[in-house]
Amino acid sequence: MAHKVKAAVFPVAGRGTRFLPATKASPKEMLPIVDKPLIQYAVEEAIEAGATKLVFVTGSSKRAIEDHFDTDPELEQALTEAGKDDLLKSIQDIVPPGVSCIYIRQGKPLGLGHAVLCARAAIGDEPFFVHLADDLIAGTPGCLSQMAKLHAQHGGSVIAVETVPREDTSSYGIVAIDKSDKNRITAIVEKPAPQDAPSDSAVVGRYLLAPEIFDKLQHIGKGAGGEIQLTDGIAALLDQSPVYAYSFSGVRYDCGSKLGYLQATVAFGLSHPETGKRFREHLREVLSD
Ligand code: G1P
Repeated sequence: MAHKVKAAVFPVAGRGTRFLPATKASPKEMLPIVDKPLIQYAVEEAIEAGATKLVFVTGSSKRAIEDHFDTDPELEQALTEAGKDDLLKSIQDIVPPGVSCIYIRQGKPLGLGHAVLCARAAIGDEPFFVHLADDLIAGTPGCLSQMAKLHAQHGGSVIAVETVPREDTSSYGIVAIDKSDKNRITAIVEKPAPQDAPSDSAVVGRYLLAPEIFDKLQHIGKGAGGEIQLTDGIAALLDQSPVYAYSFSGVRYDCGSKLGYLQATVAFGLSHPETGKRFREHLREVLSD
């Protein structure tokens, strides 16, 4: 019934206007949390969950992402000569053997649903992950692995959700859930006003989708904000094949916002083997002033 999920789509064409001027000439997905860019955390999570085909739907000013996942013989040579073996390993291990990267340009900013549709030819007729790198989730195992496990148990599509304050529903896709049917989603709405929201369960940036979504995305047309919304494609899928909501275990940081980005930096800085101890001491000092 359930297929192993082998492909992951990373929609990375968005300009990251909430982070200007930092994102004027460099991709928001390359912002680092301690020593790794957000997109590397994303790729590591997908690989841990079994993905061997990584499809980046990219746009102008995003070249740095391709470079990051490419080899760099000159840098490798320099690190080898300097005897910096740990650093050498850290750049060589980014994309392990057997994992391939595919880059597709999203020519126009027509929305998340359109970005996913751009990946169709690379995905084919298999279920696939969609990972939004802005949403950094610290969890063991990672959120996509947790979702793949659920998919292996009862098939269907799976969407990660989290409870949010009512007043924030207009920032998320919001779902209605049938708790008596394995948390099957019965409705999904893109960014409803609090009074119109079917619940306070918000979609976060992790999806495991059946390939039937592509036909839906092809036909839905523009939705909220004049964009082709992934949420609307999923809404069209609900009657045809089951879509389950999954409350992941882990902590999500909205790294598309300044506050979320800082919170992630503090959390990852505190748990990083190189910085953790001294950073903790530093924070104590700063906060006791
Ligand atoms: C997108 C989706 C939204 C989802 C959110 C999660 O919105 O359209 O349904 O809840 O990601 O981060 P965006 O944040 O790109 O506006």
